This record gives sequence, C-alpha cells and structure tokens, in this order.
Amino acid sequence: MALPVLIAPSILSADMKRLPEEIKSIEPFADWLQIDVMDGRFVPNTAFPLTQVQTIRTTLPLDIHLMVEQPAEYAREFLSLHPRNITFHAEAVRKTDDRRALLQAIRKGGATDTVGHVRRVTAGIAINPPTPLSDIADVLGEVDLLLVMSVNPGFGGQAFIPSVLEKVIEARRKHPALMIQMDGGIDASTAPLCIRAGANNLVSGNFIFRAADRAKAIASLRSSV
Ligand code: DX5
Repeated sequence: MALPVLIAPSILSADMKRLPEEIKSIEPFADWLQIDVMDGRFVPNTAFPLTQVQTIRTTLPLDIHLMVEQPAEYAREFLSLHPRNITFHAEAVRKTDDRRALLQAIRKGGATDTVGHVRRVTAGIAINPPTPLSDIADVLGEVDLLLVMSVNPGFGGQAFIPSVLEKVIEARRKHPALMIQMDGGIDASTAPLCIRAGANNLVSGNFIFRAADRAKAIASLRSSV
C-alpha cells in the first residue's frame, strides 16, 4: 500500500520581500514548510539564520534542513521553535556515536505543552548526491526520516540528478515504513520518478514559487503518474 506523499515547499525560492504572503499562498495546500538553514561553510551560501526564522508565522509544521558544519549547535537553537522535524547532513557528522547523540538530542528536544502531551520532533539524516547509502548504514534503521538530495545543496533552481533514485529504491526496499524525503529539482516531471522510486515526502522550491497557480503546482507533485 503506497504511503501518502507529503509536500514540503522550500521557502528558499520564495520572494523574501513578501515572505508572509508567499507562505500564505501555499499554506492551504502544503503539508510541511521546509526551511533551508545554510551556514556558508557546509554549502557556499547562507540562508535562514534563527533570527529570521523566528519571525516566520505559519500554520504549517516546520521542517528544518540544516546544511551546516555544526548541526548539533544549530539543532539546539532551532528546537526552540518547536519544529516538526530537523534534518542534519551525514557529511557533517562522520562518527556513529555523534550521529546517534544528535538524533537523540533532536527527539528529546520535543516540548511538553500545557496538558503534558509531549510534542515529538522527528530526526532526519540527509545524504548528498555523491554520498552512498552505505555511508549511513550505521544509523539508517534508527532515523525517523531519510533525505536523499537530488541536487548538490546550496541553491534552488538546480537540475534534478536522476542517479540518486537508486538510493531511494534501495532505502525503500530495506525500510518499508521509513519517511523518505527528496529535495532538489523536483517538479511535475521529476516528482513521479521520486514517488515511484519510493519517496513519500517531496521538497520543492522553484517549481512551486515560480508557479502562477500554486495549488495546482503542489497538487501535480502528489501524483505518481
Ligand atoms: C537546495 C535546497 C533545496 C532547494 C530546492 O540546497 O536544499 O531545498 O531549495 O529548490 P528547488 O526545488 O528549486 O530545487
């Protein structure tokens, strides 16, 4: 039975001068809102420091994608926003113990609200196109989300790299219930390839924010045909 496909627009491609309106324009149709946090060191770009993300108001769950060299430090900071998910890059955390510690720190960061119900923050690990799935064999069975990048991170509007689909197929075969997210160059033509390979969470920036009809653009990503 196919898992439902979540759509997470990436606001890296939105009009920063009209960010509240841009978020409102996709809110009714999207599932998560992806925030691309970049430190200018792990990737050659900087984006979305905590101070900027603190000003964002949205009904959508926040999906924090840490493209940073020190994800543990950033995760601690961003947990204060009570996000739905925080994903760090395997390329930035090389040791299994450190990966495990960070996964645990993210999960434990969930807030207890008034009725004592702990809101769970899920923890994800991301791999760039050149990184093999075997690089994360140590923790793949323990993560809540796997992000398979289909572009080299740092900028929106890049071309989809189809060879990464092999990693999605393999990960889905090994972990039938895992949330597998893909990010980079996802539009109405590449989304079906991702879904058929086994992805059930798609990040898209330029395709959505360049579309005149964003409801239609988001709906087109959910179809695997
Ligand atoms: C790239 C970011 C992606 C990017 C996606 O480093 O991680 O989230 O914003 O944008 P598109 O969909 O335009 O490739």
